[in-house]
Amino acid sequence: MCGIVGYIGPKNCVPILIEGLKRLEYRGYDSAGIALIYNDSSEVIKTKGKVDELEKMISNKNLIANLGIGHTRWATHGEPSMINAHPHFNKEKNLFLIHNGIIENYSTLKKILEKEGYKFISETDTEVLVNLIDRYLKRKNNLSTAIRYALNEVEGTYGIAVIYKNEPDKIVVARKGSPLVLGIGEKENFVASDVNALITYTSQVVYLEDDEIAEVYSNRFVAKNISDKEIIKEIHEVDIAIDEISKGGYAHYMLKEIMEQPESIFNSMRGRLLIDEGTAKLGGLHGFEDRIANSERIIISACGTSWHAGLVGEYMLEQYTGIPVEVEYASEFRYRHPIINSNDTLIFISQSGETADTLAALREAKRKGALCLGICNVVGSSIARESDAGVYIHAGPEIGVASTKAFTSQLVVLSLITLLIARKKQLSIIDGKRLINEIQKLPEYAKKILELNKDIGKIADKYFNATNFLYLGRGYNFPVALEGALKLKEISYIHAEGYPAAEMKHGPIALIDDNMPVVFIATKDAVYDKVISNIEEVKARKGKIIAVASEDDNQIGKLVDHVIKIPKTVDMLTPILSVIPLQLIAYHIAVKKGLNVDQPRNLAKSVTVE
Ligand code: AGP
Ligand code: GLU
Repeated sequence: MCGIVGYIGPKNCVPILIEGLKRLEYRGYDSAGIALIYNDSSEVIKTKGKVDELEKMISNKNLIANLGIGHTRWATHGEPSMINAHPHFNKEKNLFLIHNGIIENYSTLKKILEKEGYKFISETDTEVLVNLIDRYLKRKNNLSTAIRYALNEVEGTYGIAVIYKNEPDKIVVARKGSPLVLGIGEKENFVASDVNALITYTSQVVYLEDDEIAEVYSNRFVAKNISDKEIIKEIHEVDIAIDEISKGGYAHYMLKEIMEQPESIFNSMRGRLLIDEGTAKLGGLHGFEDRIANSERIIISACGTSWHAGLVGEYMLEQYTGIPVEVEYASEFRYRHPIINSNDTLIFISQSGETADTLAALREAKRKGALCLGICNVVGSSIARESDAGVYIHAGPEIGVASTKAFTSQLVVLSLITLLIARKKQLSIIDGKRLINEIQKLPEYAKKILELNKDIGKIADKYFNATNFLYLGRGYNFPVALEGALKLKEISYIHAEGYPAAEMKHGPIALIDDNMPVVFIATKDAVYDKVISNIEEVKARKGKIIAVASEDDNQIGKLVDHVIKIPKTVDMLTPILSVIPLQLIAYHIAVKKGLNVDQPRNLAKSVTVE
């Protein structure tokens, strides 16, 4: 689930591991630890706390080692505690393992091992795996072989890194369903669960695939498949600038990422608009355009914020392409019996590209022969690699656990896909050009909205003590209401619900009294008049109303308590703008409450377990 980092080479690995873990903090975690092997000795240091605490614990020990692994854990089996934190080790304390993911058959394996005399000190599935490896190590006397034998018995997902005192020349890593990369340096090598942990040291990376195992030495690496056959791996060059993943002067990553949106929105469309032809050019879909345009149905599957983007995509694609669209939670999709035909197109949306449910849904759809497209942010991520074709959103690294700039970029990409397919179908060149014209204005419009940051902060100040919030919108703005509510829940821990505005009278209206802030997304679109009626209904019950409205709306101010005005664009693109004030409301409320905005409790940036 969380972070893995490892180092082997001539340098002292301790600061490298700590820095790597810090760079992985954005993923969200509950405990941290490192294991080191040096001379004839070894050391494990773990804490229930944050990496800073781990650093403090290490600082008075004067540790120097050339081989080590570090982990940030997001508990799945056993509460967050020092004992449950990784690395886990065997009885002799000479074999150390860190693990992301879940060993599903751990209780069966544990029973077998217990019968053989193994004792366990933690509640984790991971400790079972390290002892299973130990069992084979005692029989086979070779670390890689032991790992291979152990993994053969494991059901579930893992990204692991293992070190062994009797083979101190290597780190062995393996993956299945949980990402792992190798960082290739000069006479030194690194391993990590994502490239952010490595970029201070190297830009040369090797992505491990599922069922691959690699032995990483200081001056080389050997990758093998699960049947012990050597495989040649390509070395990729990554170009993430270090300041791209620091806070860049903002108090929080989340604010930085909200503020970056004019740029990230632009990056999502850069080089992808064919102005003269009134269409879009998406290299990642090249050769698949006709198949998509001729599909009988489009199914979009995703989780969380990406799922909300999918809902907006449904409105876009149905309006402009006439192809029926369904949107499914990936977690539901993978386990029901989805009816997928070979002439369906599936779109999987995922910022991280590693979300376990979305990845599993993708694999299920591929099995059924449908065309599977990925819309991802993280280049080289599992969903990006495993889909038949796809489009990167190019939003840049998103560190804040609450997704913001990825959402708006996902919507930009969905609008480009819509434009591309609609132009293959009924949309005229004139209408295509009109859409392009509006798409091009989005970065400027986003900038204008962000200038309202202070004013939005003042509105948030008035409501940060509220215990409930309602978010209402219709049409294209209904998914925005859902997203606004999710943002608030995630980082401020205030209960919030998003609803289609007209559904309010079928239940939630009972909640409204003079303590209830209601956020309306009421831009001047096809359903504006209807939303105004809903506003009247809330007003009649004394609810406090915050409205996100179009800049030319001179009436709404008389009806509501606060208005946030945003530039007017075509309905399809409105969510890209109307969500921004909602991101800022959530952000300011959480800050005012003194909460950890970037790493909210119980949440992880990429949910690589079910
Ligand atoms: C967003 O703010 C959330 N933290 C979460 O809902 C997220 O969108 C979801 O887990 C999906 O992640 P993905 O886009 O990386 O697949
Ligand atoms: N399942 C393991 C545990 O609970 C790993 C969790 C993680 O991915 O961080 O310890």
